[in-house]
Amino acid sequence: MKIVQFNATGLPQAVCDCVERDDPPAPAGNGVTIRIEAFPINPADLLMIEGRYAALPEFPATPGAEGCGRVTAVGPDVTDVRVGDRVIMLDRENFCQVKQTTADQVVKVPDDIDVLQTAMLKVNPPTALMMLRDFVHLAPGDWVIQNAANSAVGDNLIRLAKAADHRTVNIVRRESLIEPLKAIGADVVIVDGDDLAARVAAETGGGAIRLGIDAIGGDMVRRMADCLADGGTMVNYGLLSGAPCVMTSHQLVFRGLTLTGFWLAAALRAMARPDLETLYGDLAGRIRDGALHVPVERTYAIEDIKAALEHAGREGREGKILVTPNGPVT
Ligand SMILES: NC(=O)c1ccc[n+]([C@@H]2O[C@H](COP(=O)([O-])OP(=O)(O)OC[C@H]3O[C@@H](n4cnc5c(N)ncnc54)[C@H](OP(=O)(O)O)[C@@H]3O)[C@@H](O)[C@H]2O)c1
Repeated sequence: MKIVQFNATGLPQAVCDCVERDDPPAPAGNGVTIRIEAFPINPADLLMIEGRYAALPEFPATPGAEGCGRVTAVGPDVTDVRVGDRVIMLDRENFCQVKQTTADQVVKVPDDIDVLQTAMLKVNPPTALMMLRDFVHLAPGDWVIQNAANSAVGDNLIRLAKAADHRTVNIVRRESLIEPLKAIGADVVIVDGDDLAARVAAETGGGAIRLGIDAIGGDMVRRMADCLADGGTMVNYGLLSGAPCVMTSHQLVFRGLTLTGFWLAAALRAMARPDLETLYGDLAGRIRDGALHVPVERTYAIEDIKAALEHAGREGREGKILVTPNGPVT
């Protein structure tokens, strides 16, 4: 079987290779073997390969925070997953054709929903949902502001906010994104630049914004915090600029703003198994209904992992980059 490996941190397309390895043996105990159908390349995968993620990998390392596949074999102790089930994987190291893990690390998902969307179910939809839900109590009609609004998290957040009757202000880097984001339910879309707070206030009619969602860090946080109402909360969840989050003492002390962070991995670890299954059942249902749908720019074969990684790291993509390691999916 083929698997993606790297032996040193660095530029993803330079350090990662697609290599041959023996297929895993038949699973024992509560082991599960999965034939991976698709996996996306997310910014966090690139960060991990670059050595800029939460922990440094042990080498040889295989990236891959998420994906989906079909169970091809189960160990004798496995009761709630069967051969043929489609699953998503809770653990990492998913950039491969065949994966072996344990039954507690998989969640069964419906197999009548789009495979590529299912491969992107684990990370970004719950991130958007929890950030909208768990920091500030938003009533129908309330505003939330986010940046990197055309990202997969941003796309999910716009759609989830719309479904809950919240209104969104969305900051992007290109004018060409304004209409597409409005088409999926964004209320306000603003191209980043000077006078951000004044332009946001003009668009919202001065409506109070109590929740800010930041994927970028750096001075963007300070400028977006200027758009928040006094007492508002800024949630940082990404480090796209690579710069530390900036907020001023004036914002923190006199305006009573809060700066906090969100990490899905920690949130999932804290969840009881039934809650986790309910969460993914709900989100999978929204994908089936078409309420959640992230654009895909291109899929690659696993042998072309270097090109796929380079593409995933480009600015100005129109959608996600995925790999279908066992051939194209329908
Ligand atoms: N904390 C968590 O638990 C968690 C969970 C999921 C995701 N995340 C983070 O969420 C962010 C988005 O992930 P995703 O998978 O949704 O992304 P994605 O769909 O791959 O899109 C990447 C986005 O980042 C923007 N971007 C890249 N570099 C930027 C920069 N220097 N300044 C401003 N914008 C920049 C891109 O804008 P253009 O289109 O203009 O290039 C695009 O909107 C990432 O930082 C990821 O690590 C965190």
